[in-house]
Amino acid sequence: MQIIREASQLPSALIAMGDGGKSLALVPTMGALHSGHLKLITEASRVADRVAATIFVNPLQFGANEDFDRYPRQEEKDAAMLEEAGCDLLWLPQPAEFYPAGFATTVSVKGVSDRWEGEARPGHFDGVATVVAKLLCAVRPDIALFGEKDFQQLAVIRRMALDLQLGIEVLGVPTVRDEDGLALSSRNAYLSPEERSNAVELPRALNEAAEAISSGLLVSDALAAAKARLTRAGFSRIDYVALVNALTLEPLEQAGGPMRLIAAALIGRTRLIDNIAVGL
Ligand code: PAF
Repeated sequence: MQIIREASQLPSALIAMGDGGKSLALVPTMGALHSGHLKLITEASRVADRVAATIFVNPLQFGANEDFDRYPRQEEKDAAMLEEAGCDLLWLPQPAEFYPAGFATTVSVKGVSDRWEGEARPGHFDGVATVVAKLLCAVRPDIALFGEKDFQQLAVIRRMALDLQLGIEVLGVPTVRDEDGLALSSRNAYLSPEERSNAVELPRALNEAAEAISSGLLVSDALAAAKARLTRAGFSRIDYVALVNALTLEPLEQAGGPMRLIAAALIGRTRLIDNIAVGL
């Protein structure tokens, strides 16, 4: 696996990889990799001839009181994991080069960004859309892969790629979960053992609500039961538990169409998000 840091090294690395018209998949990450990221790499190798990844803890997507400074950083370990998983090229953009003095452009995706994470974390999706647009423009992959764990992020990136007519396919990859069902996340590392054992109530509450909605219970009752379960488990703040249209992220009061249950809640100092599909 070739590792590059400077953007000026990118064109020649990409030309070498694309030799003979090979297709390229890109997996953008913020590092602190876990099996969920490795599944993105495996899936990328399945859908394209060559795989590139980026690791960049993007300051633009963190709010002033969020965890940018304490976000786990483990570059060497991440690089070894990516190589082992079959990644061909790793680009580690350098902050000062990526966002040079005077950088003044924001990519903002209206509508799909507005609610849920967008409301709880003002500016977050502008930061995500801006960094992903820059990464996609620099690497120009055929396909870019993102985890379904950040379901709204995936919808924002899909909309952005479509609107900017990037000609890049955006592929969502199902969430990888621990044995007990907790979605893998780099932020799980913040959980104390007690918080970790209670955190599993988040996917359990979502599964219970999804089953209830599928079997015809009122959506509002199912959501209220899920919130009560989270409160009992020690979640100190519930930002949202909602049934939404899976494409527009608009809230649904009644079941129908493509649906997703989404949730965000705080346990200790750690904010967890999760989502699952709902069928009828
Ligand atoms: O999901 C992430 O890790 C980040 O939001 C992303 C897409 C790499 C942009 O910084």
